[in-house]
Amino acid sequence: MTNETAPLFTNPDRNLGMELVRATEAAAIRAAPWIGRGEKNLADGAAVDAMRKFLGTVDFDGVVVIGEGEKDEAPMLFNGEHVGTGNGGAFDIAVDPIDGTSLTATGRQNAVSVIAVSDRGTMYDPSAVFYMDKIVTGPEGLGVIDLDKPIAENIRALAKAKGVPVDQMVVAVLDRPRHKQLISDIRAAGAGTRLLLDGDVAGGINAAMPDSRIDMCVGTGGTPEGIITACAIKALGGLIQGRLAPKDSVERQRAIDAGHDLNRVLDQNDLVTGDNTYFVATGVTDGGLVAGVSRKNGFIRTESLVLRSHSGTQRRVVADHLESKWL
Ligand code: FBP
Repeated sequence: MTNETAPLFTNPDRNLGMELVRATEAAAIRAAPWIGRGEKNLADGAAVDAMRKFLGTVDFDGVVVIGEGEKDEAPMLFNGEHVGTGNGGAFDIAVDPIDGTSLTATGRQNAVSVIAVSDRGTMYDPSAVFYMDKIVTGPEGLGVIDLDKPIAENIRALAKAKGVPVDQMVVAVLDRPRHKQLISDIRAAGAGTRLLLDGDVAGGINAAMPDSRIDMCVGTGGTPEGIITACAIKALGGLIQGRLAPKDSVERQRAIDAGHDLNRVLDQNDLVTGDNTYFVATGVTDGGLVAGVSRKNGFIRTESLVLRSHSGTQRRVVADHLESKWL
């Protein structure tokens, strides 16, 4: 039996993500020759150029509110840059042409090219502070997780909500000296860790995906990555909480002067206030979220994830691109 009045059937509309995915595919394809070449800025530059070109073909009026690169003085799609043809809806756009530039340069797993979009004026302005303490889970974490509570309590609460024993819980954390205590607390609570060399966007999305082995992603990572993750979380129905984590007194003062409450826990609805979000990610190197770029028989294969909050659709797009047209 079909329901003739089902909302997506009676009112089918455009999915902007299906067009944006060409830009992350292009970024991944052009970055791929730089995998394992030790040249992270050249890899990032190739991804930025390709992403910018393909964004220019998409009918929308996008303004980059979250560019990436300041941290490494890498080439970037800069904040305030207008992207898209200018025709169509007005959107904020957050780009990370490569989340995992070092992973790409060294030939390690889990580098992805990412774009997140939400209605104009709805993305949090992260400019004051680069790092954020974050926790990300799937929908089971809603009403259960509290960033202000000790990690052991959050692990136990999520395990209970998911109906799994604590010793089967898997928590992803960036492998950084600053997380030494956090990692030992997670293990002392009885859960296992998945230490990420880099890339807490993929780590966060994996924590929220229904079929993933990762239950939770925690720790201090980029604020821009937190907002990008929030766009995906809104489409997946999961949870992200974050608190700004200034790295020094200068950054702390700048944040206070900009009116930020440094004790405030921001959730997905604070990080992205709108309900119309898109998230697209294409694998650069192989990873748990999506496969990386591969080449065979004259084709370049990409795998992407396309999420949309409006419909809740989670699409995997595998594309074979004619090598002769691309490299
Ligand atoms: P880039 O590849 O864009 O540099 O970011 C990689 C990343 O691991 C992010 O996923 C994460 O949020 C951030 O860097 C963590 O910062 P740091 O490497 O300074 O700990």
